[in-house]
Amino acid sequence: MKRRTLLQWGATGAVTSAVPHFSLAMSRSPQYDYVLTASEQTLPLVDGGLTPGLAFNGQFPAPVIRAKQGKPLRIHFINKLAQETTIHWHGIRLDNAMDGVPYLTQPPIKPGESFDYEFTCPDAGTFWYHPHMHSIEQLGKGLVGALIVEETEAQNFDREVILGFKDWRLNKDGSFMPLSEPRHAARAGTVGNIATVNGKQLPVIDVPGNASLRLRLLNMDNSRQFAISLGEHQASLLAIDAMPVVPRSLTTQDLAVGMRLDIGITTPAEIGTEIAVYDVKGRFYQKICSLRVSDVLRNTPPPPPKALPPNPVSEPDLSNAEKLSFVFEWAGAMTPVTSDGHAMNEFWTINRRAWSSMSHENLPEPLAELRLGKSYIFDLYNATPHGHPIHLHGLIFKVLKSDKKDITPFFTDTVLLEKNERAQIALVADNPGQWMYHCHVIEHMKTGLMGYISVS
Ligand code: C2O
Ligand code: CU
Ligand code: CU
Repeated sequence: MKRRTLLQWGATGAVTSAVPHFSLAMSRSPQYDYVLTASEQTLPLVDGGLTPGLAFNGQFPAPVIRAKQGKPLRIHFINKLAQETTIHWHGIRLDNAMDGVPYLTQPPIKPGESFDYEFTCPDAGTFWYHPHMHSIEQLGKGLVGALIVEETEAQNFDREVILGFKDWRLNKDGSFMPLSEPRHAARAGTVGNIATVNGKQLPVIDVPGNASLRLRLLNMDNSRQFAISLGEHQASLLAIDAMPVVPRSLTTQDLAVGMRLDIGITTPAEIGTEIAVYDVKGRFYQKICSLRVSDVLRNTPPPPPKALPPNPVSEPDLSNAEKLSFVFEWAGAMTPVTSDGHAMNEFWTINRRAWSSMSHENLPEPLAELRLGKSYIFDLYNATPHGHPIHLHGLIFKVLKSDKKDITPFFTDTVLLEKNERAQIALVADNPGQWMYHCHVIEHMKTGLMGYISVS
């Protein structure tokens, strides 16, 4: 049954439809908007055999969770995994107690236990959800999903297409290769060998012609960095990490781990026309999926995509902001053993500190303590030869400038720092709590590049 459901999803292009389609997979109960269960699940990813993955509600792609801007969202989460977990709602400015970080914001959810997440989403846009424990394994094996917050007023698109990117490290028979190798963890991260979009290799997704589409791209991979282009096809960039930008023509746009892009396009009228989505590496365009016109929606093309309404993010007061600086460095040390007897590598540091595993009794000090309501400017310096998508929970920040590229200031929850790049970001510390602050290359955060900021 589960297998058939998955195959049907594949055949219809599943997550691409704009109609609510989660009724198939989501159980609704009067008490909760969603019931979400994490468990072991074999997944049909390669021809050679099933993959012993982990999945939400027994499926990959995971159910798309939809919420309304400004309205509460309730999720009853059940842990049917063999290990502890927590679920984090990436990019949502929520109540700290709902942020899903073990020890810092809640106790780990034990196997067999459940936890009710309930929060309001102040911002609309494309977000995602994932565990915040045993992340290399839990995310690497499939526990990643899209969380869409709909604008209070409906936007004028004929259709939306969710493109969730995740690569896998698989042998021919579908079994997993090691998800992390120290020599890669100490560099750019261990990348997968099977690239998928919505769980399919190089999918061709049917779309209507003469239609306006909202593409929602999500990089839910553990390590891979994309640079997105639609080639010759005219496309407008509408939002970065759920935060609307003044629409501009898409050339090549970074989509590092954890990041999302909303892109508006108008499809051509000719049935069979394909629009490819590429990952650009230098001069090389690698196709990752394509959209194919399968029928025609109307006789004349729709008007071009309009700007999305802004989210209610506070503008930092730059003239009164306090300055803090954060240096991300490569340490390259190997600590012999952790308390549970495992060798643990510590390769990365923030301000000379590597994160070491925590518990309730053993919480490290915050990297910074911010005063509620005050504006801050962070000076970020990546003193390493590798890229780091730096992510902050619970707060949205504005990227002001960089010494490596021209920046039109934009709001975001994750900023990619290229090798040796220095950037300035600013924020208003308007959400109280302890907020994780880490690189989203999962192996980097697990080997030191992680900390938290406290706002009170
Ligand atoms: Cu996707 Cu700590 O976050
Ligand atoms: Cu997050
Ligand atoms: Cu990193």
